[in-house]
Amino acid sequence: MYKNIHAAVVGSINMDLILNMKKVPEIGENVLGTSYGYANGGKGANQASALAQLGAKVKMIGKVADDANGNKLLENLKSKGIDISGVATDGSQTGLAAIILDGDGRNRIIVYEGANAEIDPQQTVKSIEGKTNLLLVQFETAEDVVVNAVNHAIKNNITTVIDCGPAKSFCLEKMQGATILSPNESETKALTGIYPDSNDNILAAAKVLKERSKAKYIVLKLGERGCALYDGEVLKTFSSYKTNVVDTTAAGDCFTAALALEYINSGDIEKACDFGNKAGAFAVSRMGAENSMPTIKDILKI
Ligand code: RIB
Repeated sequence: MYKNIHAAVVGSINMDLILNMKKVPEIGENVLGTSYGYANGGKGANQASALAQLGAKVKMIGKVADDANGNKLLENLKSKGIDISGVATDGSQTGLAAIILDGDGRNRIIVYEGANAEIDPQQTVKSIEGKTNLLLVQFETAEDVVVNAVNHAIKNNITTVIDCGPAKSFCLEKMQGATILSPNESETKALTGIYPDSNDNILAAAKVLKERSKAKYIVLKLGERGCALYDGEVLKTFSSYKTNVVDTTAAGDCFTAALALEYINSGDIEKACDFGNKAGAFAVSRMGAENSMPTIKDILKI
């Protein structure tokens, strides 16, 4: 279905350490965990995996270290058919995310960036091949890596989708005119000072994001409320799909990848928002990050 899509994903690759507990500890408190495990993660790698599982041809661009985690993460990406020739392996240490998950599947994430913070911005641009028609970036790498990649893509008429995670202030003015800019609720607050908790606030925040980035579409991820689309004129909301919430980790990554794919495939941004909601609903119903990404069959069942 998405066979003609040649996507490049510039972003982070992490090993995730997931600790499950009924209740997260307060400061100074000890709690007992119920289980733990390691999973493949990193916002960039999660989005690359989602794109590949949905049928796109994907090139991952980033950095790991030549250590046990780095080798394991790259092997996994390769096993999904992802081209890893754009991933440098001379980082100081592969990125690590410690994820604590409460009994309701809500996460708190601490990221040690390691190699992800050492990606070369010039090399990144060189790794984006001429046949690329879709670029996905997130904010889990250095600002100049994101800005250089996005501006290169815009100049070359590549559909460019910016996932604004994790929440941080970012100079959106340095990359004007991407196709889609998509923050979640806390990322929206970090970028605009407005928490999108009402329709008025969603619209106010979307207007600020549009003004700052000049992106064609602003798509706000609103968790269990679904998503909101702003094209500079009209705000439209799309309800989420209800599934059994096990782990919300990487649901946003899954949403962004599915949104981008459907948009480039059909050119229909509303259809893409709905498709993103379906993909996100699948991701929250599974434990883990990269391994909770759906196939087309999974999405069609939602
Ligand atoms: O978006 C989820 C991801 O954020 C996790 O996989 C973790 O690695 C952090 O980067």
